[in-house]
Amino acid sequence: MTSLDSATNPAHELPDVSQLVVGVLGGTGDQGRGLALRLAKAGQQVIIGSRDAARAEASAAELGFGVRGADNATAARESDVVIVAVPWDGHAAILTALREELAGKIVVDCVNPLGFDKQGAYALKPEEGSAAQQAAALLPDSRVTAAFHHLSAVLLQDESVERIDTDVMVLGEERAATDVVQALAARIPGMRGIFAGRLRNAHQVESLVANLISVNRRYKAHAGLRVTDV
Ligand SMILES: NC(=O)c1ccc[n+]([C@@H]2O[C@H](COP(=O)([O-])OP(=O)(O)OC[C@H]3O[C@@H](n4cnc5c(N)ncnc54)[C@H](OP(=O)(O)O)[C@@H]3O)[C@@H](O)[C@H]2O)c1
Repeated sequence: MTSLDSATNPAHELPDVSQLVVGVLGGTGDQGRGLALRLAKAGQQVIIGSRDAARAEASAAELGFGVRGADNATAARESDVVIVAVPWDGHAAILTALREELAGKIVVDCVNPLGFDKQGAYALKPEEGSAAQQAAALLPDSRVTAAFHHLSAVLLQDESVERIDTDVMVLGEERAATDVVQALAARIPGMRGIFAGRLRNAHQVESLVANLISVNRRYKAHAGLRVTDV
């Protein structure tokens, strides 16, 4: 047992989330498939969503571990916790369309608004402050959180990688909701969920991915983050 798995692990105080159903909007993409795979392997019930139900069903069948596929609206409606894993371009439209299905749910936004040019990746500045704040503005009846921004979809999807040794920064306005998301992160071997503030501080967390992409390019890595002394 490493020190990260010991009594200092914040997971000790977190709720039991093993019976919650997790939906993933845009779950046919790299990030969504990767998260679905890791959570389902850990025993979570997972439904991946797509704009096309047949595509979701095909992806789900490939993933295995009991993952189900459905259209995005059904995935949202049938889940307790819904991860938003669509590109920034489609973010506002999908949340606007699913406001009713997402009412009362814990929504976990992992969208990183980024631009790319010859110099590499750079952070965009959403009008609302961040993707997570845009989600909160569009979903007043949901419990919006932000997390899972800094994970490598390559590592998540690589089944030969047993542990993902990284921390997940979890942001939100409501402790009970961020605790659930921290607990979900902690179900994935090697991962911890660390509370990292309210949604008004999501922009820095989303933007940091531009730096991680630079790290990955320079060092040919799939870099993650650790928060020390917690
Ligand atoms: N890739 C990573 O390593 C990583 C890591 C952390 C966070 N993220 C964030 O996670 C999100 C998804 O990343 P990704 O790499 O998985 O992206 P992606 O593969 O390009 O897209 C994910 C899925 O979103 C759906 N989609 C595409 N355009 C859409 C639109 N306009 N409206 C609604 N749905 C749309 C597609 O599914 P259907 O065609 O089946 O509907 C697609 O499979 C991004 O916002 C990214 O910033 C990615």
